[in-house]
This record gives sequence, structure tokens and C-alpha cells, in this order.
Amino acid sequence: MKKYIHKIKSALDLEELEKLRIEVFGKKGVLATSFAKLKTLANEEKKSYAGELNSLKQELTKVFNAKKDNLLKEHTQKLMQKEGVDVTLFDAACESGALHPVQATMDKIIDYFLNMNYEIQEGPLVEDDFHNFEALNLPQFHPARDMQDTFYFKDSMLLRTHTSPVQIRTMLSKKPPIRVISPGAVFRKDLDLTHTPQFHQVEGLVVEEGDKVSFSNLKFILEDFLTYMFGDVKVRFRPSFFPFTEPSAEVDISCIFCKGAGCRVCSHTGWLEVLGCGMVDPNVYQAVGYENVSGFAFGLGVERFAMLLHKIPDLRSLYEGDLRLLEQFK
Ligand code: PHE
Repeated sequence: MKKYIHKIKSALDLEELEKLRIEVFGKKGVLATSFAKLKTLANEEKKSYAGELNSLKQELTKVFNAKKDNLLKEHTQKLMQKEGVDVTLFDAACESGALHPVQATMDKIIDYFLNMNYEIQEGPLVEDDFHNFEALNLPQFHPARDMQDTFYFKDSMLLRTHTSPVQIRTMLSKKPPIRVISPGAVFRKDLDLTHTPQFHQVEGLVVEEGDKVSFSNLKFILEDFLTYMFGDVKVRFRPSFFPFTEPSAEVDISCIFCKGAGCRVCSHTGWLEVLGCGMVDPNVYQAVGYENVSGFAFGLGVERFAMLLHKIPDLRSLYEGDLRLLEQFK
């Protein structure tokens, strides 16, 4: 049986060693059969035979483990040589990536407001009914809740349907003066040419003590912002309704495709709707315990801006990961 010590020592690879393991240590291996012989021996003989066998087993085990260690090391060494990467090599065929158009548009929007001294304020994607609806003057059974078909969890938790709940979180945690934007993902049960279940908004909120903030301030900042985004466009404010602003307006820009002459994209009106806004509703101030303040809020859809900026006809194509689209943004 000593020959196995030699055999193990000279095994060439892990495969050969595994075969030897079965041959020596396996259930029907030489050790097991030798130990089985013990039964057939007389008592005196048993003792010396068992002693020899045990020390042989010990030696075999030691030799085997040492060999296995060696072969494993060799094996990883070879693998590392074969699969190693020389990070100093320059690859001329290496292609650069690009920001996703939605991210790039988001960055451009954020840049404007950071320059105007706004701070960024983020909020959770999983919201509760209070922040997403109730405090925004959308009490239970308010019909405007249906405008934003909601993904609900248990216990009146939900995926936020707009970034407006961050208005509430901001006002609850800070005192005026407030000047923030809240960029982020929002969710609605919607899927067609111009809607995906997840999209992105940027919310704006400005609140000051007293009556310092007026609708003209709101008009100024949004007109300036939209000119920054779209260049030489006309901007108009249309009376509208949001439960959390009063008065409220929707903001249109003159159609960037037909320059206001009327085309399919603007449904032949010459105008494109791009924003919702208004003066913060007194009921919202009440919900957050604010008194004697004035302020405005606005909200916009980032995907809509990206589509207009890059003339992308189908919103869904922004989320298909199709390289033919994405590579155009390098
Ligand atoms: N939260 C509104 C929406 O999702 C947008 C909005 C924000 C309107 C702030 C007015 C003021 O449609």
C-alpha cells in the first residue's frame, strides 16, 4: 500500500488526484478493504496490524492534503495567467458611453435651478396617502385622485404619483425662505405613446414669509427657464386647476416643430403644453402649519421635455434600451 504514497506524490493534476482519492480513501478503496480485514485476524495480530494501518492512513492523508494544496495553487496560477487582464493596454476600438437622454435632460433642468440658487430636495418613492394626496388638498374621494391612477400597497402606502409630496415634506421640515427643486421618479398606471408607468418629474417650490412671492415671480422664472431649455419660443400661461395651487395654470410653449403654424405634434394648435404650476393653495399651508406666507409651485415631466428636445415620437422607446436610439446621444 506504500506505493500509493508515491502515486499521490507524483499525480500530475487535480483530476488524477481525485481518481487516487477514490482508489485510496473511497468507500471501496484500499484503506477501507484493509480495515475490513481486521475482523478476520486474531487478537494479538489485530493490534499491531491496526496500529500500522492507522499510521499509514495518517501519512496518506498528510501527503494527499499537501499534494492537493499544491495542485490547487498551480491551477489558480495558470488560470490567472490565462485570464489576467493588462489594464495598461490601450484599446483603440473601445467605445465611449453616453448619458441617457432622460438623464441628460434632467441634468440640464437641474443645472438651471442650481444656478438660480435653488436647493435639491429628494423624497421617498414609496409614499403614504397623507403626503401624496391628503396634505395636497386631495381628500379621500376627491375626483382629481383619478387623474393619477395609483399603484397601491397595503396600509394606504403607494408609489408616489407625482413629486408634489416632496413639497409637503420640505415644508414640514423647514421654515421659509424655501427655494427647492425635487427631481425624481414617479409612477402611474398608464401605458401608451406618451405615457409609461414610471417616469420622472421635477418639482419646484418657493415660499417666503409675508406676501413677497407673487404670480409675476412665477411667470418670470418659468419664462426664463423655458427659453433656456427650448431657445426662442413664445410662452403662455393658461388658467387651469390643481388642488394644491390657487390660482393654477398650465404653461404652453409655441410649437417647436412648426413654429406655431400648426402641425400634427401640436394638434394644429401651434402650442405645446409643458408645465403645471400655480400659487400654493392656502389649504396646503394649513396642512403643514404655515401662516402668513406666500409661494408658488410648479411641476414638469422630464420625459416630455426630452421628447420635445430630441423630437422623439414615442415615449416608450426611451425605455427599450435599443442601442440604435441610445447611440445617437453620444
Ligand atoms: N403635480 C402635478 C402633476 O403631477 C404638477 C404640478 C406641480 C402642478 C406643482 C402644479 C404645481 O401633474
